[in-house]
Amino acid sequence: MTQKVAIVTGAARGIGLATADVMREMGWRVALVDRDTEELQKVAGERDNVLAVDADVSNPQDVGRMIRETLAWGGRLDALVNNAGVARFGPVEDTTFDTWREVMATNLDGVFLCTQAAIPALKETRGAVLNIASISGLRASTLRVAYGTSKAAVIQLTKQYAAELGEHGIRVNCVAPGPVRTKLAMAVHTQEIIDAYHDAIPLNRYGSERELAEVIAFLCSEKASYVTGQVVAVDGGFESTGVGLPALRR
Ligand SMILES: NC(=O)c1ccc[n+]([C@@H]2O[C@H](COP(=O)([O-])OP(=O)(O)OC[C@H]3O[C@@H](n4cnc5c(N)ncnc54)[C@H](O)[C@@H]3O)[C@@H](O)[C@H]2O)c1
Repeated sequence: MTQKVAIVTGAARGIGLATADVMREMGWRVALVDRDTEELQKVAGERDNVLAVDADVSNPQDVGRMIRETLAWGGRLDALVNNAGVARFGPVEDTTFDTWREVMATNLDGVFLCTQAAIPALKETRGAVLNIASISGLRASTLRVAYGTSKAAVIQLTKQYAAELGEHGIRVNCVAPGPVRTKLAMAVHTQEIIDAYHDAIPLNRYGSERELAEVIAFLCSEKASYVTGQVVAVDGGFESTGVGLPALRR
């Protein structure tokens, strides 16, 4: 089988689903992985060249099955997009250990487990891994003790994997999104927060799922064949403007 195969986790909606669609447009076949069974079956039924894999990325048994089902279906694995994530925001003093663990389980353990399990198949194709971190992993803020820390760890994990897997021709990169109007973000962004974000972002707006997906798909493709260990902020300039205060604008 010559058609390239990707796994995209958290693909039942949001940035993951947009990524799967862009990769399909580029000729890839895509295993859509999610633990939201109902939504996953719905979106998979509406698309061709996809496989629905009902799995929780924080569960090692599920992750092993995810790889086996993908290989049985597609015969190869060329890219893994570790996109599944959860956001739980709150002050440090109100963050229970259960909440901390819930965030780390998906956002950090999931990336470690999926990537480790994909290595043998990616060695065969000299494939790529793309992790989704966040602006919250590049810059600290209030309310994100668990989320921000998990995403900063994903950035380091990207570099660890890139260092170790480079000799096998496997590239490992990371995209750090700024705010995007997905279900995840809208659950924690009030109108006041949205307005404040617009003020702090040079492009003055949220990004779209598609704008994230295009960069993710590019980094998974042959066009990025000499890029590894990198973190690309797709954030309208948010990360680069630490002193871009609204009061300093004309
Ligand atoms: N939307 C934003 O503003 C924003 C900003 C920065 C980073 N991100 C990151 O982008 C990624 C995608 O976010 P989104 O906004 O599209 O979120 P979303 O909530 O719309 O979609 C996330 C998907 O992941 C799935 N999922 C969650 N935990 C899972 C698990 N353990 N196993 C399998 N599936 C799981 C959910 O069911 C859901 O379908 C996340 O890693 C998120 O942290 C998003």
